[in-house]
Amino acid sequence: HQLMAESLHIINGFAREYFSKTLLESEEGQNVGVSYFEERGFTQDTIRKFQLGYCLNEKDAFVKAALAKGYNLEYLQKTGLVTIRNEQPVDNYRGRVIFPIHNQSGKIIGFGARILVKSDRAPKYINSPESEIYVKSKVLYGTYFARHAIDKLNECLLVEGYTDVISLHQAGIENVVASSGTSLTQDQLRLIKKYTNNLTILYDGDNAGVKAALRGLDLAIEEGLNVKLVLIPDKEDPDSYVQKLGAPAFREFIEENKQDFVLFKLQLSMKEAGNDSVRKSQLVNDIAETISKIDKVEDFTKQQDYIRQCSQFLKIDEQGLINLVNKFIRERL
Ligand code: UTP
Ligand code: MN
Ligand code: MN
Ligand code: MN
Ligand code: MN
Repeated sequence: HQLMAESLHIINGFAREYFSKTLLESEEGQNVGVSYFEERGFTQDTIRKFQLGYCLNEKDAFVKAALAKGYNLEYLQKTGLVTIRNEQPVDNYRGRVIFPIHNQSGKIIGFGARILVKSDRAPKYINSPESEIYVKSKVLYGTYFARHAIDKLNECLLVEGYTDVISLHQAGIENVVASSGTSLTQDQLRLIKKYTNNLTILYDGDNAGVKAALRGLDLAIEEGLNVKLVLIPDKEDPDSYVQKLGAPAFREFIEENKQDFVLFKLQLSMKEAGNDSVRKSQLVNDIAETISKIDKVEDFTKQQDYIRQCSQFLKIDEQGLINLVNKFIRERL
């Protein structure tokens, strides 16, 4: 197992370097790949820092180079870099720009490969398949580049995509990681918890973005994280929005729009419930359950604060809410 993992790391490391070289040193890499990144506003420094790359739009340029180096075809397939078509090995990321995914110590565990022009026939990103070294539910893109900043600022920003992480770094905001489009898992939250207790989620304000964020809230609370939320305006993401506003105005936007996630959830469900009394009592239950997941021993005052604020907000009796919260705690014992 250890040997397999090491082999896959080595192959990915070779591929990373090959795709970087292709981007920076080939004509097609310059004309197609570098132009693409430049149009997105990425600087040369950013391209180098994140070790971005390009895979030639040829059938098997990469796999030929890898086989010539002596790498094993079976392992090349395991990394997802190569597939077999009509019994021939072919490059999987042909004509795509490449985002290497680093583990916490900087080794390459996988790739995201983006198509240049959106198409109905092909996915926007092809990501590495799960393997001994790439378990999607345990990875947050950008941790390798973010951990010192997260430590220093005692806060972790969470975004959805690769390019969000990259653009924020370029704007001088370095305490940022991405969930890569999936809902947050317990393993990912534990990874954040290793560095900080303070998580700020930056998701699109559209329905899908909010729903995705809400799905992670209870899990994050259970892990003992303080969760804040910043809703990015509709049709934008942190990448497009920071490029639009510029770094100083974007930072200001984040500071001014940061809100407590539990209170946000409460307000949102109040709005949705309207005058429907059944839905109202359901939402009191929901919020009590969320609050019950705060660790009473570690965060007693935090739980009390939420109970006070939520009961005021809901115009219900504080003791009633305390009883409900305690009921949920007892049920889990
Ligand atoms: P988005 O659709 O928001 O893409 O998906 P993006 O990050 O803004 O990328 P650009 O700006 O269009 O280049 C967010 C994340 O979801 C994952 C990727 O990790 C992406 O960064 N995703 C998205 C996929 O894995 N596959 C897809 O086809 C689309
Ligand atoms: Mn983005
Ligand atoms: Mn969206
Ligand atoms: Mn985007
Ligand atoms: Mn996006």
